[in-house]
Amino acid sequence: MNEREINFIADLMNKMDRKAAVIGDIINDYLSHHKNLDKVDFLDKAWGVVRAYARLQWAYPENNWQERVQKFIENGLPDVSAAPYYIQWEIHEWFLSHIPTPESELPALLEKPDIILRALDNRDITLSEMKKEGLNVEPCTQSPYGIILKNYANLKNTSIWKKGCIEIQDEGAQLLSMDIGVKSGDSVFDFCAGAGGKSLILAQIMQNKGLIQAYDITPKKLFELVKRATRAQIKIIQITTSLPKPDKKFDHVLVDAPCSGCGTWRRCPHMRWHLTEKQLKHITRTQSEILNRAQAYVKLGGKLSYATCSLTTDENEKQVENFLQTHPNYKIVLEKRYSPARTHTDGFYLCVMQKTAY
Ligand SMILES: C[S@@+](CC[C@H](N)C(=O)[O-])C[C@H]1O[C@@H](n2cnc3c(N)ncnc32)[C@H](O)[C@@H]1O
Repeated sequence: MNEREINFIADLMNKMDRKAAVIGDIINDYLSHHKNLDKVDFLDKAWGVVRAYARLQWAYPENNWQERVQKFIENGLPDVSAAPYYIQWEIHEWFLSHIPTPESELPALLEKPDIILRALDNRDITLSEMKKEGLNVEPCTQSPYGIILKNYANLKNTSIWKKGCIEIQDEGAQLLSMDIGVKSGDSVFDFCAGAGGKSLILAQIMQNKGLIQAYDITPKKLFELVKRATRAQIKIIQITTSLPKPDKKFDHVLVDAPCSGCGTWRRCPHMRWHLTEKQLKHITRTQSEILNRAQAYVKLGGKLSYATCSLTTDENEKQVENFLQTHPNYKIVLEKRYSPARTHTDGFYLCVMQKTAY
């Protein structure tokens, strides 16, 4: 690694000190302007330093980022066994009490994750085509749709991507979507559809039969969903930019709620420094309001699925507990966590509740 690259990473860390949220974009932009550098090594080092933000400051308090980066490149991670746990695990101290089993989840949340894809059609054929293209891929062991990309690759330049045979989606999100229990022919209301990650896999599980109505408070995200659905030749998703009439009922209502996102901190390690306790409280209030509104669209005997990509109990178990107190006409039929330590995926929570009375 040359001086220019070290300077770049040091500058990146100065930006992190100023709470820049676009660290990934800055790194990718640098890569696109320096075509000759060893991408794998550079990405490893740059993200390695981002992941060690608190540990490097704790170990080298007197040094500036230029010096800390230099030490990291030369010696790797410093010994922080004497540091408080929140430093070792790279989180704000207040966050420690918000997740169950922090001693296993937080170290796992620091690991570098594989890139996980979802095959939109036959996975075996997709795998063999990807191998022919020189990509180092393996099937995921838990999701029948999942593919692990073992090496760095400019995916969007591959013919398999251009043909629309794959999407990027963590295995945890795939497992969660399967656990919702949708069947071919069902009607589904995706209340927080965003750009459609869940809607698209639900449509695949439903074999493109039935109806998925996709709503989001930010309509422009839904337009991205339309593009992705077209690319995947999915025909059963209808977007709606306003809420349906209250008498419209569905077999399944999915609330893939806005959340702290802490379950995905393996992939965006800098984001762990952005979350505040105040924001967490605010997010839990929003989630509760959305759940209350969304439940009205579940038909009798139908299911309300509440999902987050968070590991906190406030956003997950406690949120559902509070919901059930005010909605005794729902009962839990499945409650599950997917996490870096348990399922070796990003962190997700799913609770499927059945409506037993109006
Ligand atoms: C976790 S993201 C959804 C991700 C998406 N389901 C996927 O799988 O790609 C949460 C979404 O909730 C939306 N949202 C936030 N507040 C909302 C509200 N009050 N009603 C509906 N959607 C809302 C956000 O715009 C965001 O797209």
